[in-house]
Amino acid sequence: MSTASLEAVVDPGKVQGWINAIGSDPSAAVPILQAIQTEYGYLPRKAMNLVVENTQINASQLYGVATFYAQFRLKPIGRHLIRVCHGTACHVQGADRLNTSLRHAMEIEDPKQDTASNGSYTLENVACIGCCSLAPVMVIDGQAYPSLKGADAQRELLKHAREHNEILAGHDAQE
Ligand code: FES
Repeated sequence: MSTASLEAVVDPGKVQGWINAIGSDPSAAVPILQAIQTEYGYLPRKAMNLVVENTQINASQLYGVATFYAQFRLKPIGRHLIRVCHGTACHVQGADRLNTSLRHAMEIEDPKQDTASNGSYTLENVACIGCCSLAPVMVIDGQAYPSLKGADAQRELLKHAREHNEILAGHDAQE
C-alpha cells in the first residue's frame, strides 16, 4: 500500500462550514488550516484548493502559512502516529537512537519519508513534551513510553502493532 491510498476523502460541505464559521480573509488562514488538520490529520490538497477557491486567501498565502508552522502536515498520516521527543533532555538521552531503531522496524530507508509503506505508522519528531525526567520518551497514539533505549522503542512498537493487527518489517502482527 502506498501513502497515496491514505489520502483523505474531503467533504466540501465541511470545509465551507469552517470558512463560514471562521472567516475568509487572510487572517483566517491559521484557524481554517487547524480545523482541516484536526479533521483529517493533515492538510489534503483538495481541502486546500477549496479554501483558495472560496476565500480571499490565495494559494501562495495559504501554502506559506501551511509550510511556516511546524504543526501543519501536507502529507497523509499513517493509521497510528508515533511522536519521538527531540527536546534537549531526550536528545541527550539518545532520541536519535530511538528514531534509528523505529525506522528500522518500520522499514523506512528514505530519510524524507516518515510513514511506513503499508500506511501503518507515521514517525514524527517533536519538541519537548514536558516529561523530561523520563527521557527519552516516545508517544504512540497519545500513550507515552518513558525512559526508552533503542531496543525498548522497537519492542514497544512491535507490541503495539500486534495489539492493533498491524504488520511491521516482515513481523506478522498476528503471530
Ligand atoms: S525533552 Fe523530551 S520530554 Fe522534555
